[in-house]
Amino acid sequence: MQTDSKISVFGGTGLVGSSIIRELKKQGYLNIDAPRSNELNLLDKLQVDEYFKTKEPEFVFMVAGLVGGIYGNSKRPADFLYQNSIMILNILEAIKNFSPKTKILFTGSTCIYPKENPQPINEDRFMAGRLEETNKGYAVAKGLGVVACQLYRQQYNINAIALMPTNMYGPNDTYDLENGHMIPSLIKKFVEAKKNKSPLTFWGTGTPRREALYVDDTADACIYLMNNYNEAEIVNIGTGFDYSIKEFITILEEVIDYKGEIIWDTTKPDGTLEKRTDITRLKSIMPDFSPRSFKDGLRETLKADFGWEEENGVK
Ligand SMILES: NC(=O)c1ccc[n+]([C@@H]2O[C@H](COP(=O)([O-])OP(=O)(O)OC[C@H]3O[C@@H](n4cnc5c(N)ncnc54)[C@H](OP(=O)(O)O)[C@@H]3O)[C@@H](O)[C@H]2O)c1
Repeated sequence: MQTDSKISVFGGTGLVGSSIIRELKKQGYLNIDAPRSNELNLLDKLQVDEYFKTKEPEFVFMVAGLVGGIYGNSKRPADFLYQNSIMILNILEAIKNFSPKTKILFTGSTCIYPKENPQPINEDRFMAGRLEETNKGYAVAKGLGVVACQLYRQQYNINAIALMPTNMYGPNDTYDLENGHMIPSLIKKFVEAKKNKSPLTFWGTGTPRREALYVDDTADACIYLMNNYNEAEIVNIGTGFDYSIKEFITILEEVIDYKGEIIWDTTKPDGTLEKRTDITRLKSIMPDFSPRSFKDGLRETLKADFGWEEENGVK
């Protein structure tokens, strides 16, 4: 990408899209178009066709989607399937027909890998086993998007790359306790418990290990790969390190300065004991990739979204 290249970000109001825009601007890119869904509804083929016919963007970051946690996914599985499938198909078809020189970067997700995996999870696990029941609609649609990128590349020479980011958190996240992801939900719970001086209860023993990637590190990797990668193979974007749930909680306690009680309800199940992404392929393309620690990412997130200050804590 040149600093004046025509770049489009679909999903620019979201967690990942807003971070990509921030990073693009920081790196000096000037010509960024980020239409909202009410300006360009990616579910509407005619609107998508018109966009590519008239704008012919050189680079597209496709990070729009219907995204949610276990609750949202299990309540609306058909919506997750339909919307996430149609958006990427509309875009690839429009690129093929009206703007074949466009390079597109699409994000799948590590949560669409099969339910059971040897750890850490590498890219060969894609479509290698039975899916998690709770997010089947989302996983099938995202998997379709990944395969679509590969097939449009194979048949029509479209420059489409597909990446598999792990669970993320960061500024501009959705702090929805029912529908959100693990880290933003934990952050929100701690902030509220600190304000209300109430105890916090967590399920299980706290021993399962999880990975959480600060979203600006994902954005960095996406921009780097847009500039330096053009192959059919998917690429994981993870941290390469993980923490036990207990360790996440201890860091949250310390940074938010929460002094209340923490209760572990060990009658509840622990869930999968380990979930970690293999980032060997990413490191072979981007050797300098070095995501920040949870403590550092948490501080940035609290500053941006909760008015947190080093001296005074959460406002
Ligand atoms: N968050 C994670 O931890 C995570 C992990 C792995 C992969 N991912 C992937 O990363 C991508 C971005 O996730 P996110 O967490 O940033 O999502 P998000 O915060 O929920 O944002 C979703 C974005 O999609 C846009 N959008 C939804 N429906 C649209 C439509 N019909 N037409 C146009 N735009 C539409 C929204 O635009 P408006 O606001 O304008 O409606 C919004 O900007 C997704 O593909 C997701 O699967 C996310």
